[in-house]
Amino acid sequence: MESDHDLRDQVLAARIERWRPDLLEALAELYPDPDAVADRLLELAARAYRERPEDLHALDLARSLRPDWFQQPSMLGYACYADRFAGDLRGVARHTAYLKELGVTYLHLMPLLTPRPKPNDGGYAVQDYRSVRPDLGTMEDLAELTQVLRAEGISLCLDLVLNHVAAEHEWAQRARAGERRYLDYFLTFADRDLPDAYERTLPEVFPDFAPGNFTFDEDLGRWVWTTFNAWQWDVNWANPDVLVEYADTVCFLANQGVEVLRLDAIAFTWKRMGTDCQNQPEVHALTQALRTVARIVAPAVVFKAEAIVGPRELLPYLGQGRHHGKVSDLAYHNGLMVQVWNMLATGDVRLTAHALAQLPQAPSTTAWITYARCHDDIGWAIDDRDAAALGLHGWSHRRYLADFYAGDVPGSFARGLLFQENEQTGDRRTSGMLASLAGLETEDPYAVWRVLLVHAVILGFGGVPVLWMGDELGLTNDWAWDRDPDHADDNRWLHRPRLPWDAAGEDGSGPAGNHEVRAGLGHLVRVRQDLPHLHASTPSTPMLTRDPGVLLLRRDHPLGPMVAAYNVTAEHRPVPESVLREAGLDPDRCVDRISGTRPTWHPGAGERSLWLTEYQPVWLVATETAAHSLG
Ligand code: GLC
Repeated sequence: MESDHDLRDQVLAARIERWRPDLLEALAELYPDPDAVADRLLELAARAYRERPEDLHALDLARSLRPDWFQQPSMLGYACYADRFAGDLRGVARHTAYLKELGVTYLHLMPLLTPRPKPNDGGYAVQDYRSVRPDLGTMEDLAELTQVLRAEGISLCLDLVLNHVAAEHEWAQRARAGERRYLDYFLTFADRDLPDAYERTLPEVFPDFAPGNFTFDEDLGRWVWTTFNAWQWDVNWANPDVLVEYADTVCFLANQGVEVLRLDAIAFTWKRMGTDCQNQPEVHALTQALRTVARIVAPAVVFKAEAIVGPRELLPYLGQGRHHGKVSDLAYHNGLMVQVWNMLATGDVRLTAHALAQLPQAPSTTAWITYARCHDDIGWAIDDRDAAALGLHGWSHRRYLADFYAGDVPGSFARGLLFQENEQTGDRRTSGMLASLAGLETEDPYAVWRVLLVHAVILGFGGVPVLWMGDELGLTNDWAWDRDPDHADDNRWLHRPRLPWDAAGEDGSGPAGNHEVRAGLGHLVRVRQDLPHLHASTPSTPMLTRDPGVLLLRRDHPLGPMVAAYNVTAEHRPVPESVLREAGLDPDRCVDRISGTRPTWHPGAGERSLWLTEYQPVWLVATETAAHSLG
């Protein structure tokens, strides 16, 4: 009889045989000697595989048997800072009941590996990828937390910050100390010639507090590429040593039990003169190389691309062309997020329907991360061409939205702040909590309905909806954000509050918040869990707009069609019955799963219509499939 040990080795050999070609293909796009780099990667992968804990090998098997686990309608994400949610990692472990009750199956804890001392961009300036920020706990606490979460069916997602490290990271320190090997980990320049040449086509990410993309380092006596803050040093991905280091980090985190890696600022990792140094083709090759290593060591792990880029650049992150099926499984649907706010500000869905229709379909094995907002600002990514198609001027419309959500437009219900106004380009972005942007702070009578409509769009699109901490309770802005001197220049902290556990909610169990929001969201989550039509393999496609106030999305799931209709106005608006027929639904044999009722059809001019009340969402499916799905 073969020993377990032999069996393990056979599995490893089978995986290497399966994935080595993908690895070589990716490396050949990046480096002159792909075989040598592949050997180094496979050696570290074999080591990590052997060190992988038993329970995680079991998870790998379970996930290989259900490769669509992250596409299930039961998936619900939650994102928070460990300290702002529950003090530290043990605190998070103690509060899993709260997450479970909410229906969470995926928890994104914001950066928690040891960062440089503040300021550190909310942890995105990592000093050590192998240890946990001391006030949050230890690596053992992290591994233990992943076990506690897994037992509750919750997968842990962590950031892998791979465009830059803190200027205090060991690599940077050794570069400064004169070690050539580590100098080559970074992009540094003796004078301004090349930096100036690059600057001609580079945008500025933080024009307010970190203008320019290069920083002079006194110790090095050289200019260092720093896309984000001066103390975030971009690493040199053209150096294979950097890839080997990060591949090792991927394996290390996977072996702690991390199941989803969020590839932070992935779009910026490869630089090319004369471009904006984003979305370069090599970015996808290096993702493929990392992904292949992860597949050999830890097939349970999936990758999430944080690429907040234009709609047309976004799809390659989920694998297009030769990278199909070989890069990230998840990507943020930034366009949907922007459009949700656009619809609420304008009460008009036409631009949204048009923009969504322009986005090519994501591969059926992947899933969008749908979200109403996140820890970052909202950048008004409205494509000029999309705006023009609707007779709008892109620049002016983006500006209008920023002003609207800063509360600077007559009739605006929103209370947010402008973030990073760029004098040169006129670009301005927005900070604010969901509830505040939707009108709860201005006591607008429709605020709660708007919040719930936003949640419905996010939950009803298909993919992994991720709630940002506090939005489940309708928490409003943290106006004390600038009292911490380390945050005072970064108003994204307006929407990064602490969860108010001490102020108990109505039933005394959870933190205080808006009861209607919490209850309404809970209902939507339960409905969604039971709606197989929302499996992420089926896309949501916009239907022809009938009434400019109602967004119509259809999903052609093999179980039967689903039509989602969202009234984005404070008026009653119609959904004509032909909409349902067009999607293949019988208007007299369907049910709105949100209200649990069959639609009432009112006669109108020409055809019968279902009238949606103010900001009402409906998810319509055939009565038979509804019964089927209920078992
Ligand atoms: C990502 C993060 C953002 C951070 C940046 C630099 O975009 O979401 O918060 O500032 O990367 O790491």
